[in-house]
Amino acid sequence: MVATSVEDIRLQLRSWPEVEAYLKGCKGVIVPLGSTEQHGPTGAIGTDALTAEAVALEVGRRMGVLVTPAQAYGMAEHHLGFAGTMSLQPSTLLAVLHDLVLSLARHGFERIYVINGHGGNIATAKAAFAQAYGTAASRGLPNAANLRCKLANWFMAPEAMGLAKELYGDKEGHHATPSEIAITLQLEPSLQSKQRPLPEPAPAGPIHSPEDFRRRHPDGRMGSDPSLATAEHGARFLDVASTALAADLQRFLEEPAS
Ligand code: NI
Repeated sequence: MVATSVEDIRLQLRSWPEVEAYLKGCKGVIVPLGSTEQHGPTGAIGTDALTAEAVALEVGRRMGVLVTPAQAYGMAEHHLGFAGTMSLQPSTLLAVLHDLVLSLARHGFERIYVINGHGGNIATAKAAFAQAYGTAASRGLPNAANLRCKLANWFMAPEAMGLAKELYGDKEGHHATPSEIAITLQLEPSLQSKQRPLPEPAPAGPIHSPEDFRRRHPDGRMGSDPSLATAEHGARFLDVASTALAADLQRFLEEPAS
C-alpha cells in the first residue's frame, strides 16, 4: 500500500475496469458509516457522517485503499425527539449493511473495514456482519470462507480518546462531544458561526425512547461541552484517529484467510 490522492481512492470516481484491476492487488475496502442526527444546540446534524467519511478518506489515502460512499443514515431512534434527525430502525440498518457487504463480497472484496462515527450503530453493524457471513456461505460465494468484516469506531481509538481527555477532561461527555464537533469545524469552517458558550449539560444516562431521551437531555447533549472545540483540535483528531485506524487496517489486511 502506498499513500495516494483522495481522488484515486474514492470508489465513486472509479470506473468498473479500474475496480476490477484494483481487486487483483488488494481485496480491502473501507465503508464510512455515520448517522444523521441532532448533535446538541450548536452541532451539525451530519456530524457523525462527516467525521466518519473524513477519517475514512484520510485512512484510504494513506493506505491506497478504496473508500465507498458514506452510509450517512444510521440507527438514531433515540434522537428522533429532535428536529432534523433521520433514523433507520435497527432491522433496516442491518439489512442495508448486509446487502452492501454482500455486493462487495460478490466482486471479490474480502476485507471490509467499516469506519463508524456513531455509537448507536455498533450493535446493529456487528449483527449485520454475522448475518452477511451466513448469507455469503449459503449463496455459495467462492470467497465466503475468506470474507472478513471489521468495525472501527474512530472515536474509540485509544489515541483519540487520550487526546480528548487531554484537551477536554470530563467535558468530552458522551454525545455532541467536543472531539467530533472539532472535526466538523476543521472540515466545514462555516460551522464556526454556531459555536457559543453553553450552560452545564445534562449528565449521560440510560437510553430509552425518544421522549425519554429529550426529557433527560433537553438540549440534546450528554455530559459534553462542544463549545471547547476548535478547528485546530479537529485537525489533530483527524490525524491521530487516521494514524490509529491505518495501523489497524494494515493488520486487518494482513490477517491470514482461513
Ligand atoms: Ni456523534
